[in-house]
Amino acid sequence: MRISQAKFVGSFPEYAKAPRSGLPEIAFGGRSNVGKSSLINALLKRKSLAQISKDPGKTRLLNFYVIENMSGKEALYFVDLPGYGYAKVPKDVRVSWKKLVEGYIADSSKIKGFVILIDSRRGLQEEEIQLIEYLPTQNKMVCPVLTKSDKLNRQAGTEIVRKTAALLSALGEKVHLPVLHSSETKIGNDLIWRWIDERITDGK
Ligand code: GTP
Ligand code: MG
Repeated sequence: MRISQAKFVGSFPEYAKAPRSGLPEIAFGGRSNVGKSSLINALLKRKSLAQISKDPGKTRLLNFYVIENMSGKEALYFVDLPGYGYAKVPKDVRVSWKKLVEGYIADSSKIKGFVILIDSRRGLQEEEIQLIEYLPTQNKMVCPVLTKSDKLNRQAGTEIVRKTAALLSALGEKVHLPVLHSSETKIGNDLIWRWIDERITDGK
């Protein structure tokens, strides 16, 4: 999609408090510090729309951004989900994150897809596998994104894509092939946008 503008709408402690405009939603999830806010800024070609945290684990709300198409019409939301699995976050916060995200998945009929971020230097961890396995059971499409690929050489980048694809291959067609991304070089932006465009034009 060609976009004219993107705006921060607000942060909501639960989906019931989020705006009810009927626009499609694309959710972004992953561990704290994995690069969610940076990916959102890279996709929207903005430097600092989504706040890049110096304090990992700070985002504990559903952050909504609205995206306008070239005709100036509001077309979709990006929803930045709170990071999870960060070692310094107490267990009760992790439990509340899980409740928030599962509640969001259950309550929103507008989620057209989940972009799940994985640090390309670490690869898939148990919690990410659990989330990626869970989403297709809820009839949700998943685009796995390997972040911060500028920190890897080309061979290591190819290898982590291959390894991640192999781990996810049993999950079926709802899970896209992993996309290698960097918010520094913007590699992978086009592939992710193509996937988002397919999601939001589906069934319209
Ligand atoms: P939380 O909101 O705390 O869950 O973090 P987040 O997932 O939104 O991560 P954020 O975008 O704030 O990035 C975390 C750190 O990683 C920041 O210091 C970013 O500058 C850095 N970072 C993010 N993406 C990239 C990337 O593609 N390449 C490099 N080299 N650094 C990145
Ligand atoms: Mg963030």
